[in-house]
Amino acid sequence: MDPGDLLALLKRRTGFTEAHAALLKELGQVMTPIAPEVALAFYDYLGRDPELAEILHAVPGRVERLYGTFARWYAGLFSGVYDRVYAEGRRRIGLVHARLGIGPRAMVPAMGIVQELSLEHMRTALRGPEVFSAVEAFEKVLAIELGLIEESYLEALSLGLSLGHKDLRRALSEGAAALLAGS
Ligand code: HEM
Repeated sequence: MDPGDLLALLKRRTGFTEAHAALLKELGQVMTPIAPEVALAFYDYLGRDPELAEILHAVPGRVERLYGTFARWYAGLFSGVYDRVYAEGRRRIGLVHARLGIGPRAMVPAMGIVQELSLEHMRTALRGPEVFSAVEAFEKVLAIELGLIEESYLEALSLGLSLGHKDLRRALSEGAAALLAGS
């Protein structure tokens, strides 16, 4: 599915409106400054899992580079702009992970950690009633993020299978590599 159409569908299904977009932008004032801190805690969490730690340390300097890329991704959650360019960027991020064989069993819990770290900060940085609407908007954007990533996995997997790869992991990774090469 076209990333712009997929985004529109995910917005409709999560009930994400322009009001949520505006709220996220406002929330960015308290959330974006903690992006480097979230990045540190995030890779610390991944590094405690032997399988994921091996991927992270397979290339020298990779984790150090990821701190910056992750922090930019995190800031993007609060940019207030969720359009086709945003959807295409998120599809690409999904494909980069699919190519590395980092599947939903790693991505979904990782998104849960992003959620946990963020909610903890919202609870201390915001006042009572503000928290509820902030959490609502934040949950919706995370659901959209996961939807975009998961759909990019399906796209990669079906291409990999159609290229003749029988092993699912291989099909996912080769399909993603072909899609990234063509974009
Ligand atoms: C919430 C989940 C995650 C987010 C938001 C995220 C974010 C990102 C972003 C923005 C990139 C750069 C993509 C690009 O090059 O365009 C990236 C690359 C990467 N991520 Fe993740 N990531 C997540 C989960 C994971 C997990 C679970 C692992 C497991 C080890 C992982 C390992 C990597 C690796 C190895 C790269 C490629 C680094 C390189 O270029 O050498 N990520 N990630």
